[in-house]
Amino acid sequence: MGKYNFDKVVNRENTSCVKWDFRTRCNEKATKDGLPLWVADMDFECAQPIIDALHKRVEHKIFGYSSNDTKEYKESVYSWYKRRFNLELEKDNIFYSPGVVPAIITLIKILTNEDDKVIIQQPVYTPFELKVKNNNREVVSNSLKYDGQRYEMDFEDLREKAKDPKAKVMLLCSPHNPVGRVWKEEELRTVIEICMENDLWIISDEIHSDLIRKGNKHIPTLEVGNDYKDKIITCTAPSKTFNLAGMHLSNIIINNKKLQQQWLFEIKDKLDIGAPSPFAIASTIAAYNECEDWIDELNEYLDGNIEFIDNYLKKNLAKVKLVKPEGTYLAWLDFNGYGLNKAELEDFMFKKARVLFNQGYSFGKEGNGFVRVNAACPRYILEEAMDRIKNNL
Ligand SMILES: Cc1ncc(COP(=O)(O)O)c(C=O)c1O
Repeated sequence: MGKYNFDKVVNRENTSCVKWDFRTRCNEKATKDGLPLWVADMDFECAQPIIDALHKRVEHKIFGYSSNDTKEYKESVYSWYKRRFNLELEKDNIFYSPGVVPAIITLIKILTNEDDKVIIQQPVYTPFELKVKNNNREVVSNSLKYDGQRYEMDFEDLREKAKDPKAKVMLLCSPHNPVGRVWKEEELRTVIEICMENDLWIISDEIHSDLIRKGNKHIPTLEVGNDYKDKIITCTAPSKTFNLAGMHLSNIIINNKKLQQQWLFEIKDKLDIGAPSPFAIASTIAAYNECEDWIDELNEYLDGNIEFIDNYLKKNLAKVKLVKPEGTYLAWLDFNGYGLNKAELEDFMFKKARVLFNQGYSFGKEGNGFVRVNAACPRYILEEAMDRIKNNL
């Protein structure tokens, strides 16, 4: 066993936890006895340095307005990206947002007019379509290509869609949720070149960049697109990496000076949400400075969880295909082998097997017949979920 015990089952009930306490929000057919492997946070305790930093901050006993505009904070973010990705961020280009999704929407509102188009690559994280549409921008899908095992980008289609003068932003998910691709340098370079040719902005959502499966390497879009950095915005956060989503802190990298001013006007002057809580600041600094060994060991455990699913399916449920993730802790399972329609698959998952997985169709029509399993939990819970499927099919 390693230094950390990721097998430890922690009861998350009655902690205002969305994944467990509000589990029926997963789907209208979900029941209270469903095993929740949906919302993308982890059922693991945070690393001890984070807990210690929070205790220390609590002991100070005053929780007034706070700011992360400090040398210590910026140094912690800067040094993480330098150490982990060899990326040298300019500290003045790191901006706070309470979340990646609010940041994406704020940026899209600045960069586009109401009937402009935003290109996404479905199946993809549900808010990419939903929130953009709710803000009256048109969503265009440059759907990923699936060969029955793996997903690839469709560059020919992207070239066509990017030519549309109404297309203004490419919203990239890197690594990709839910299909788990970690984009290769050549793939990123091709996306950047197409965007350059057509003067599109690139918003690169890299929230899953620290959760990389063995043998893969995350490459920041900014590294490949240094010659286009003025039009690339990178969204990062300690939230997925260190299980801090409830802290509501993300770091948005904006290199373009004019956009920086527009961003500050929206976030600070118009909305007045320019500063994180003292707990978000303390936990982020501790996470980036002191928890590298924890995430490395966690990644090994997650590799084991994915391998467990793979072996379990091969042995017991050969008609279910796992799209093996290169990154993220999400397993994208292809149930099309059973020929169930949307309602039948939902009835099976929520009423019969009582496992709460995100349904593939919510990531776009390309996800029909798939489910997304959040494998960031002790293996015991994963085993229970797989048994529930096997025993009820
Ligand atoms: C690709 C992606 N972006 C953003 C988010 C959510 O980010 P936030 O909670 O910071 O808005 C998620 C959460 O699952 C995600 O998978």
